[in-house]
Amino acid sequence: MLKGKHIVLGITGGIAAYKSATLIRLLVKRGAEVQVVITPSGKEFITPVTLSALTGKPVICDFFTANTGQWNSHVDIGLWADAMVIAPATACTIGKMANGIADNMLVTTYLSAKAPVFVAPAMDLDMMAHPSTTRNIETLRSYGNHIIEPASGELASHLIGKGRMEEPEKIVEVLEQFFATDKPLAGKKVLLTAGPTYERIDPVRFIGNFSTGKMGYALADAAARMGAEVTLISGPVAIKPNERTVEVVNVESACQMRDAAVEHFPGSDIAIMCAAVADYAPADPHDHKIKRETDEIPTIRLVKNPDIAATLGQMKREGQTLVGFALETDNGKANAERKIRSKNLDMIVLNSLSDPGAGFGTDTNIVTMIQPDGESKTLPLMQKTEVAREIMQAITEIHKS
Ligand code: CTP
Repeated sequence: MLKGKHIVLGITGGIAAYKSATLIRLLVKRGAEVQVVITPSGKEFITPVTLSALTGKPVICDFFTANTGQWNSHVDIGLWADAMVIAPATACTIGKMANGIADNMLVTTYLSAKAPVFVAPAMDLDMMAHPSTTRNIETLRSYGNHIIEPASGELASHLIGKGRMEEPEKIVEVLEQFFATDKPLAGKKVLLTAGPTYERIDPVRFIGNFSTGKMGYALADAAARMGAEVTLISGPVAIKPNERTVEVVNVESACQMRDAAVEHFPGSDIAIMCAAVADYAPADPHDHKIKRETDEIPTIRLVKNPDIAATLGQMKREGQTLVGFALETDNGKANAERKIRSKNLDMIVLNSLSDPGAGFGTDTNIVTMIQPDGESKTLPLMQKTEVAREIMQAITEIHKS
């Protein structure tokens, strides 16, 4: 599974750094290419000579190589990686990663990496249990990073508790499992809409909504990891997909989103309508900024936007699977069931804005997946990345049947 994979191994300053040598040997033995990026304090625990002898590549620590002035490009290393593994990850580095404090080569590489990131924390039990560490680890999880939980046992301090970096054999197993995940959507094309739409009132103002796109982008990543070729039609958002294979088509308004969706739908096997499409748009958007000086209070006449999900529902042919979302504040189940029928969907995912931890901008969500026959499954409060995986698995099952 790891043959030919490019692994960037980030090593930070913890006692467990001595285990990095074993980790590299195991990875190299399985045919992976390993590039070490080490923090200055990491070098206090294990020498670059040992590491470069094992990887066959110079170890990178600084932004520049001192004697030649050659620049080490964190962007290039980040793009080269098929996976980045930070083992051991100290509380300090985890904190920097969570907060974007890019004061060394390792954290800048992490911020540039497009590949999946695996973090194996290693620290004393009290540091591990501190709310700051817990919060930072949760933040990394919310970025879609994979946390390889530390084991319990005797620590360098001789105290016993949680904080021992997971054994190299186990870390390799996690990576193998990740790359082995069978790709049930290989050869399938998945189309997604995500984010809000903006409907222009004039060149500076618009009608929009609070959608951040997190759920749709998490679904796009999950589908890509399951082997699908993903096209993501996105309204204006501030995020990017983690998976570099996801093709993003940027749009602004509901009409632009509809045009792009109608263009891509015929070639798609699965379409997931996750966008929070504005239901109405100004009928006559102004070419010039509406000025406040006049006494007259402007009236904005609205027209109905196209229903993209319903349009695709009408175009749907045998073998295509169409999934919608329903965002409700009241009578969630009844409204969702009505939308399944009116939009000709194969499944609808109900979000209730009244559930704490669910809805716009949060990293978590509570959803109920409802099928046309009324069968439903409610997932507990989970990270949006995990919710996305569960939803994609359910959609894969429906698509197969
Ligand atoms: N949807 C769409 N185009 C629209 C409105 C909604 O494609 N113009 C899709 C959404 O992406 C979602 C589903 O339809 O998958 C339901 O969206 P929602 O906003 O919950 O429902 P609406 O159809 O807009 O109905 P209402 O506003 O009355 O709840």
